[in-house]
Amino acid sequence: MRTYKVGYFVGSLSSASINRTLSRALIRLAPQDLEFTEIPIGNLPLYSPDFDGDYPPEPKALKDAIAASDAILFVTPEYNRSIPGALKNAIDWASRPYGNNSFDHLPAAVIGASPGKIGTALAQQSLRAVLSYCNARQMTAPEAYVTFSPEMYTADGDVSDEATAAFLTDFIRDFRVHIERVLTVIPRP
Ligand SMILES: Cc1cc2nc3c(=O)[nH]c(=O)nc-3n(C[C@H](O)[C@H](O)[C@H](O)COP(=O)(O)O)c2cc1C
Repeated sequence: MRTYKVGYFVGSLSSASINRTLSRALIRLAPQDLEFTEIPIGNLPLYSPDFDGDYPPEPKALKDAIAASDAILFVTPEYNRSIPGALKNAIDWASRPYGNNSFDHLPAAVIGASPGKIGTALAQQSLRAVLSYCNARQMTAPEAYVTFSPEMYTADGDVSDEATAAFLTDFIRDFRVHIERVLTVIPRP
């Protein structure tokens, strides 16, 4: 049985990020044949087309990490009803230089947690529009808008609430099915 390499972005730079906790929960609940590697975004300079001819080491490493992934998972907070600037900056780097878009045909999924009731719904809509333009092959269902209750999670991502654990398990299993489907039709180069 083959394994699938999932690179994941946490859209938060916070040392106490609830979205990082959510990413740990998803990794714990995921099928055994998904291998997860975080792709860091906190050390990237701000993107400028001036770098297109010669990318600095951090954005080069970002593009290499995406190239080494079979699929990408975004676990992101909502900032002012959109995605955090740090995550958008990372996506902009990865989408360039023109003609070398790292997301082209890449299986992708989006999830996010917020203390608020709409659970990053608007950030995810923004992110989906960006990923659509980048030609990523997004899982469109199920959607996953997580209202984060700290008492339900340990810092390493153990989920005590059964219904939440079942929902997250279904989400990440469905992502595995989505990855397999996309890669069957569009194998990674
Ligand atoms: C600049 C900023 C903007 C925010 N905007 C939103 C928002 O639009 N919607 C929302 O639900 N929460 C918003 N929040 C609250 C975040 O959901 C909360 O800080 C959450 O913990 C961020 O995720 P993280 O812990 O993974 O960094 C905002 C927080 C910050 C710092």
